Amino acid sequence: FFKGKTPFITFVLGGPGSGKGTQCEKIVENFGFTHLSAGDLLRREIISNTEYGAKILDTIKEGKIVPSEVTVKLIRKEMESSDNYKFLIDGFPRSEENRIAFERITEADPDIVLFFDCPEEVMVKRVLNRNQGRVDDNIDTIRKRLKIFESLNLPVVNYYSKRGKLYTINAVGTADEIFEQVRPVFAAHEDHVEFEWVQE
Ligand code: AP5
Repeated sequence: FFKGKTPFITFVLGGPGSGKGTQCEKIVENFGFTHLSAGDLLRREIISNTEYGAKILDTIKEGKIVPSEVTVKLIRKEMESSDNYKFLIDGFPRSEENRIAFERITEADPDIVLFFDCPEEVMVKRVLNRNQGRVDDNIDTIRKRLKIFESLNLPVVNYYSKRGKLYTINAVGTADEIFEQVRPVFAAHEDHVEFEWVQE
């Protein structure tokens, strides 16, 4: 469904509050990716009151994760309608099941996987301090999200580490300091990204 083009896919992983969204904004500004946030796509379904909206809201409020089929279909739809084939997929895959569903449904593999490594207490503090709190930004739900992150998301991190695709970023410090670790990862792949575009 990439219309014969070769996409350049980056997965962005990290616990709640590790700064994925903040760093993605900087990556988009500097390297021109299309940013797809799994969480934002799900929240958009809730606001638009779609057939999945109410179930998604219940799941998110509980701090649990939404079934892979739903998330991957939303991501695929966004990818299909994009004219830019450099994708930054933020907060995904959340589990081995997510990863396998993505491979099956898109027949694609990430080129880069960024992992924002952050101590739990720093993540909790950031989420609780978020300016406009979300339905899942309370201490009980955050603890659940962290547990799920450890049990479901870390196996995905290990999978990409074994496959040599993982770039671990120390996510403590100011957003600018953290971005100085992120920048060289993309700078090193820039030739490759350009090459893919020239080919089209
Ligand atoms: P999602 O929206 O992905 O949220 P999350 O992973 O819990 O992460 P956050 O958005 O809370 O944090 P972030 O890492 O993006 O950090 P941010 O930059 O915002 O998912 C929400 C829910 O949706 C999930 O719990 C699940 O239910 C569902 N879901 C999502 N994906 C799914 C999937 N694939 N399958 C099934 N269900 C799924 O920063 C946080 C705060 O810290 C901000 O206020 C920011 O300003 C501040 N901050 C950022 N960086 C710094 C810094 N360096 N120093 C100080 N403050 C900082």
